[in-house]
Amino acid sequence: MKVIVDSRQNIAEAAAQGYVSFIQNKPNAVLGLATGSTPEDLYAELIKLCNQGEVTFKDVTTFNLDEYCGLAPDHPQSYRYFMQDKLFDHIDINPRNTFVPDGFRTAEEDLVAYDRAIAEHGGIDLQLLGIGGNGHIAFNEPGTSFQSITHMVELTPETRQANSRFFNSIDEVPTHAICMGMRTIMNTQNIILMAIGKNKAEAIRNTVYGDIDPKCPASVLQLHPNVTIFVDHEAGSLL
Ligand code: GLP
Repeated sequence: MKVIVDSRQNIAEAAAQGYVSFIQNKPNAVLGLATGSTPEDLYAELIKLCNQGEVTFKDVTTFNLDEYCGLAPDHPQSYRYFMQDKLFDHIDINPRNTFVPDGFRTAEEDLVAYDRAIAEHGGIDLQLLGIGGNGHIAFNEPGTSFQSITHMVELTPETRQANSRFFNSIDEVPTHAICMGMRTIMNTQNIILMAIGKNKAEAIRNTVYGDIDPKCPASVLQLHPNVTIFVDHEAGSLL
C-alpha cells in the first residue's frame, strides 16, 4: 500500500493527475467510481481538466460501487443523480458507458448481471473508494464476507445516521442498498482510496495497520497489490 498524506486540495489534485495519466495510457479504461462527499473535489478537478482538454472520457466506461434501494435515478439523493450532477453531466463521457446499480432491481439475477457486465468490459482497471467511519467500503459493512460479489445489504444504523445529513430526516434514508462485493472490489487492477477528516482516522489506521478482518472491511486492501491511499492530515493523523 502506498499512503499519501497531504492537504485536502492537494490530494484531490494529485488523484486527478493520476486519473489523467491513467486515461492517457488507456483511453478506453474501465473506471470504478464512488459517491459520498470525499470524491467531490476529485470530480471537480476532473471536470476542470476535461474542459481544459487535458483528458477525454469519450472511450471510458464507468461502474459505480453502489446505489440505494428504492430511490429513483432522478431522486436527488440517489447515487445515479449524484454522479450525473457531480461528474457525468460535465464531462465528455458517453452516457451509455456509465453504469450504476439499479436500486429497484434486487433479484439475484440482476445482481449477478452487474458483475457479469463488469467482466464483459474486461474488468475494472482503476477503482475509486471512499471509506465509512466504521471501515466500510461501498456499503460493505463490517462482517461482510470477503468473498461477496454484488449484493443487497441492510445498512447499519451507524451508516444511515452518517448519511442522514443528506436527507431531510433519518426516516428518509433507505434501509437497504445494492453494492459491489468485496471480491468484486479486490478483483480490480488498481485501487485509489480517499479519506478526509478526523472521523475517518481510526478506520484508516485499521485499514493500513489493523488485522485483516471483516470487522474492518477495508483492511482486506492490505492483500491487494496496487492500492494508493490519499488522506488529508486529519484522516492520516493516527498513522
Ligand atoms: C457511503 C458510501 C460509501 C462512502 C461513504 C463515505 O456510505 N456508500 O461509498 O465511501 O459513504 O462517505 P463520505 O465520503 O461522504 O464520508
